[in-house]
Amino acid sequence: MIFKGQVAVVTGGATGIGRAIALKLADKGASVMIADINDEAAEKTAAEVKEISGKSSVFITDVTNLEACDGLATATAETLGPVDFLVNNAGIAGSSGWQSRSHSTEEDWKQTYQVNVIGMSNVTSAFRSQMTKRRGGRIVNLASIAGREGRPSLPHYSASKAAVISLTQSTALELARFNITVNAICPGLLWTPMWEQVGDRYAQDNPAFDGMSPREVFDTMVAERIPMQKEQTPEDVADTVAFFVSEDAKNITGQALNVDGGFFMR
Ligand SMILES: NC(=O)c1ccc[n+]([C@@H]2O[C@H](COP(=O)([O-])OP(=O)(O)OC[C@H]3O[C@@H](n4cnc5c(N)ncnc54)[C@H](O)[C@@H]3O)[C@@H](O)[C@H]2O)c1
Repeated sequence: MIFKGQVAVVTGGATGIGRAIALKLADKGASVMIADINDEAAEKTAAEVKEISGKSSVFITDVTNLEACDGLATATAETLGPVDFLVNNAGIAGSSGWQSRSHSTEEDWKQTYQVNVIGMSNVTSAFRSQMTKRRGGRIVNLASIAGREGRPSLPHYSASKAAVISLTQSTALELARFNITVNAICPGLLWTPMWEQVGDRYAQDNPAFDGMSPREVFDTMVAERIPMQKEQTPEDVADTVAFFVSEDAKNITGQALNVDGGFFMR
């Protein structure tokens, strides 16, 4: 798997899973555009990418803003070249965190859909003409096992990730005739800034986790719910992205693949 001379864009590429994806693609030779709202962390990750593959750039992009996404597409083409791999990774759990249905606010629903679903659609739209003109490319969307089945503790997040799986299928059907594949990844449990942020709220909401720290909640869930009894890592997800964008996956599209140690088997 060598991506030398190819250009990748990773939204939410500054931290967590997105950062690992950027580093993995760079390790295989790709130039990487980091598109994120966190400018400090984005610059840090871009510097790490440059150390590995030599070419990286940052475009501060709020994916909820269509004009900013158009700006991202133009800036990518001008600084690194037309995109080969678009990784739609930016995602949030809602400002109140992962709470019970009764606490899920209208704002949680709006924010989560704005970023996870509409934001993903905005970025894909912005790169559509660049990719279809060249009749090729790969899109990978970050869904979640939360999108596989509704759960009371995170309804707005689960619903948004189910929408990501559906959006992946629609986009795959639309772009198949342009030789563009579109697939989704459903990660399981990963200790990233997102989990650190929402873990204590999750603990408050589940009596079984009473008094536990976010990390203890996380470890308990890994031990009790994941058949492989291992947490997933950002690198596990990055490896799967590398597969989906590679030649080996040229005939795979419209799929959603769980990377979850067997947590969900559908
Ligand atoms: N951590 C997990 O356990 C887990 C599990 C399943 C799926 N996921 C999904 O993986 C993806 C990455 O999650 P993570 O755990 O690395 O989270 P994270 O919070 O560590 O990283 C998310 C990144 O997206 C950026 N971002 C947020 N809103 C944005 C916006 N409007 N525009 C541009 N960038 C924005 C953030 O600045 C951050 O750099 C998300 O889509 C998430 O839903 C995470």
